Amino acid sequence: MNKIKKVVIPVAGKGTRFLPITKTISKTLLPIVDTPVIQYLLEESVASGIKEALIIIGYNQNDVINYFNTESTYVQKLNKDYEEIKYIKKLKNQIRISYVFQEEAKGLGDAVKHAKAFVGQDDFALILGDDFVFSDGFKIYGIGSLCKLYEKIPSYYLGVHEVPYDKTFKYGIVDPESSLSSCFKIKNIIEKPKDNPPSNMACVGRYILKNSIFSYLEKTKIGVGGEIQLTDALALALAKETIYASEFAGTRYDVGSKIGYVEATIAVAKSRSDLKEEIEQYLKQ
Ligand code: UTP
Repeated sequence: MNKIKKVVIPVAGKGTRFLPITKTISKTLLPIVDTPVIQYLLEESVASGIKEALIIIGYNQNDVINYFNTESTYVQKLNKDYEEIKYIKKLKNQIRISYVFQEEAKGLGDAVKHAKAFVGQDDFALILGDDFVFSDGFKIYGIGSLCKLYEKIPSYYLGVHEVPYDKTFKYGIVDPESSLSSCFKIKNIIEKPKDNPPSNMACVGRYILKNSIFSYLEKTKIGVGGEIQLTDALALALAKETIYASEFAGTRYDVGSKIGYVEATIAVAKSRSDLKEEIEQYLKQ
């Protein structure tokens, strides 16, 4: 059976929407309640059957490596074996984590290029470091929904979500080839369309990419915002490849934006047995 076993998680962007904290703390380490975003993304990958993760970090993001170091002086000086630390150790046994540096934030397309050696000949999953998918009770959610589709028909899959038309300028927007259903073929994709978006179905941080993406990335020129855009490489790929867009299980939050971050925090707090009652009480006030 065709199975996706590797995930690439780029977190090397500048995180300017979260200044000033991103001056010294990586955006992906900001906690949703008490757990950093990156840990949720790895949990989502494990739930999807993925065994290896590559985290693409910026030159100043050793804090991400330090977070997953369970042998650090801090841990050694703790007076007991905390469950939270044991949990990180367990997670690391479930998914092998490696890192690569993207020295300069030249765009998502450029970040993905840095995964070539890790990926080898395989097709792979891509999860963006600032899109959080809350499981909402689903065992397999987010990238897992796309992995399942890939198992049936190995192809490119883009996780999409309907957004208001007046917000389409913020996203990669797909142009559906067939009528809209939960999974449909696309005929084009446009990064941050200024006007006349082809639909309101936006790419929201979950992708299954075939290995051929690297050849299209090599041909991709600098695009919107002076960055190498993955969307432009996908648009090139469409000449030869079939690309599907699909919705996925779970609820997606743009935790790279302040409002998305607050909404995600409330959703997670409401789902936790240790906080549920208090947060609901508070929200009623
Ligand atoms: P964004 O453009 O949304 O994030 O990139 P950003 O640049 O970090 O944030 P703002 O807009 O300045 O606040 C989407 C994802 O791609 C990663 C980001 O870290 C984020 O997870 N990315 C982006 C890279 O890894 N490298 C890049 O060069 C650009």
